Amino acid sequence: MAANIAAPRSLGDYSLVGPYSRVAVEEGLADARWYLSPVPKEQMRALLERRDGPAIRDTLIWFGLLIGFAAAGIALWGTLWAVFPFLLYAVIYGSSSDSRWHEAGHGAAFKTDWMNNALYEIASFMVMRESVVWRWSHARHHSDTIIVGRDAEIALQRPLSLGKLIGKFFAWPGAYFYFKGLLRHVAGRMSPEERTFIPESEFGKVYTRARIYLLIYLAVIVTAIATRSIIPLLLIGLPNFYGSWLMVTYGLTQHAGLLENVLDHRLNTRTVYMNPINRYLYWNMGYHIEHHMFPMVPYHNLPKLHALVKGDMPPPYNGLRAAYREIIPTLRQVLRDPNYYLVRPLPASARPSDAPHQAEVISSDAAPDAQGWVEALDLARLVPGDSVRFDHRGKTYAIYRSAVGQLFASDGLCTHGKTHLADGLLQGACIECPKHNGRFELRDGSVRRPPPRIPLKTYPVREKAGKVFLNVSTAEVSDEPVA
Ligand code: FES
Repeated sequence: MAANIAAPRSLGDYSLVGPYSRVAVEEGLADARWYLSPVPKEQMRALLERRDGPAIRDTLIWFGLLIGFAAAGIALWGTLWAVFPFLLYAVIYGSSSDSRWHEAGHGAAFKTDWMNNALYEIASFMVMRESVVWRWSHARHHSDTIIVGRDAEIALQRPLSLGKLIGKFFAWPGAYFYFKGLLRHVAGRMSPEERTFIPESEFGKVYTRARIYLLIYLAVIVTAIATRSIIPLLLIGLPNFYGSWLMVTYGLTQHAGLLENVLDHRLNTRTVYMNPINRYLYWNMGYHIEHHMFPMVPYHNLPKLHALVKGDMPPPYNGLRAAYREIIPTLRQVLRDPNYYLVRPLPASARPSDAPHQAEVISSDAAPDAQGWVEALDLARLVPGDSVRFDHRGKTYAIYRSAVGQLFASDGLCTHGKTHLADGLLQGACIECPKHNGRFELRDGSVRRPPPRIPLKTYPVREKAGKVFLNVSTAEVSDEPVA
């Protein structure tokens, strides 16, 4: 077992406003720095690059399958043969919408933002997740993965109930909480838990989406009544109850039975090799440790990322069957003993959980000149499109050189969490944070894409005689050590 594993607690209180929420903060588990496997900077930059092509192809196939199965079911209506296309339609609708929701929500599926947003909204509705609520809950899930009292998306809560576990395969009790939340939002109210992870400025969007969802459901019901046919309900709504079993089958492999309250995804997450059909339906989310460590790497690049980091991770499971050979006995044990956790040892080749992030850091303690300028690095070390972390006298900065050669500088840490922006993706004059893909405009530090809400502090930077100089005269140095 790795050295920094916090003691597990499983007292059945997963509330985000309960005692363990406070305990998580006190123990430094909230918004903490997580272990990251080393990946060479150039290779990470290449992996982060977005493309539209793979997701357009996969999405067209996906819509094609939905339309094809629906058309076949309608054409065969009145015969027993109609059952098969409708069952297949339900699996595509109720299960594979989960991974589309997920990847588009991270903004990493497509290069083009509106495509991510459009797919995200469609898939959110299909998978019965209110799009705005889940965008924020998922950001929290990535900040505080399986941290009790912080993570709103812990699928298997202890003590485990066999009835609830089986019910999950039929969208139960998820559908109950979904419709309860939907009606609350239609009425313009938020729960105390939701208020812990959704900023108030987003409440209006939550209510609007909820009312749109409700109108869609009402329109489907009215159409079914008017046409005296169940087909509209077989196309929208009902498929979740008999088509989401595959999503649960995939989803349980992610974290089920593993440790809570640790800051190393290798200890609370699984990577499972899958066959090409499952990889397509699940959009490569079987590479789940890799996804959690580097959530901005698009799904189509996860196999390449896996090849780079697999020596630093527990061995992957060779298929779903292999994963369930471990998960089923583990869950049996958890049913008997809620304090049972499966601890997967790290291989001898792996770095320990408390090993520092191996990033390129340029540091200097040189005194700034009278105007606040300090020499940071040789310009040649900063190729166009690149960024670098620069630590100066206890404070961390990020210095960027755009593809067209413009220099920018900012505080080194994202204003949303303790993530180094120099590890992010520079797009024009925008830096995208590698944690939740928040974006900042580097000309003025303004937020271009949530979840950050606080602007980024920027600094004057200039090049002179092949050297990059940063002006730190307006920097505020905190007492917190740079890590
Ligand atoms: S840490 Fe969340 S967007 Fe940067």
